[in-house]
Amino acid sequence: MKVPTEIALRTGYTMPTLGLGVFENDECAEACKVALQNGYRMIDSARYYHNEAGVGLGARQSGINREDIFITSKIYHPEFGYDSTLRAVKDSIKNLGFGYYDLYLIHSPLTGKANRLATYKALQEAKAAGLVRCIGVSNYSGKHIDEIIEAGYELPDVNQVELHPFCQQRPIVEYCTKRNIVIQAYTPLVRGAMDHAVIQGLAKKYEKDAAQILIRWSLQKGFIPLPKSANEQRIISNGKVYDFEIAETDMALLDTLDRGADGAVTWNPVGAE
Ligand SMILES: NC(=O)c1ccc[n+]([C@@H]2O[C@H](COP(=O)([O-])OP(=O)(O)OC[C@H]3O[C@@H](n4cnc5c(N)ncnc54)[C@H](OP(=O)(O)O)[C@@H]3O)[C@@H](O)[C@H]2O)c1
Repeated sequence: MKVPTEIALRTGYTMPTLGLGVFENDECAEACKVALQNGYRMIDSARYYHNEAGVGLGARQSGINREDIFITSKIYHPEFGYDSTLRAVKDSIKNLGFGYYDLYLIHSPLTGKANRLATYKALQEAKAAGLVRCIGVSNYSGKHIDEIIEAGYELPDVNQVELHPFCQQRPIVEYCTKRNIVIQAYTPLVRGAMDHAVIQGLAKKYEKDAAQILIRWSLQKGFIPLPKSANEQRIISNGKVYDFEIAETDMALLDTLDRGADGAVTWNPVGAE
């Protein structure tokens, strides 16, 4: 199975199929530079991570053209609401030091329906104003996206959720797949907890490391994995996932590890009211 390095989003923009996560990487410029110089073309940041400026710096230092890099940020719930969202997007752009974001997400469904919709409306306007090219959501379940549809707003391009073999978010994946909403898989390395015998066994079999097995599983499922590393060697090895294939029977074996929400290792607020 050949996995593409880019996919088309529902609104027509192209997004790379692998991104570098920069959560808990305060000084992320170096990691971004290393990633971009070693084939990555997407960086996943957020206002909550307080490192948007580092992403911009790393992108500039990499020597790769801005137009060839796909940069994401996310608005965090204390800033939700119409006016504060527009202010936040402008501030993110100032931090980044480039004139636009490729993708801007609502970080979570927290704080209720009215606030979610006001925030989303502001993102649509930021998009119309050219401040962001695509908009999306994170940690949304189908019921949160239904609200967007009922309000008559455009569908999000992306829903970013915790997703790895132990937490496969099957109802959300099914919902989004039907509506052509691309799923980004956050925490694809289970935050480093990769010692399960099935994963270790496949790593040995394919002569890859456990992280490469998990990233490749995600790619073959059609997700967009966002592994985080602040280590040069691991950033590079995590990107070497397009040159091998996990057989169907082994993909099925990894699929059996799903423990639903019990398998989540982060906040996973998909059930928020
Ligand atoms: N939308 C959301 O609510 C949300 C929530 C969480 C995460 N995210 C996004 O998803 C990204 C990834 O998730 P995450 O940071 O939670 O966890 P992750 O990518 O699953 O795991 C990161 C951890 O794995 C280690 N690691 C990386 N490569 C490795 C390798 N090859 N071998 C062994 N260990 C390795 C890292 O350490 P080193 O750095 O030392 O390599 C780090 O401790 C985040 O950075 C963020 O961009 C989004």
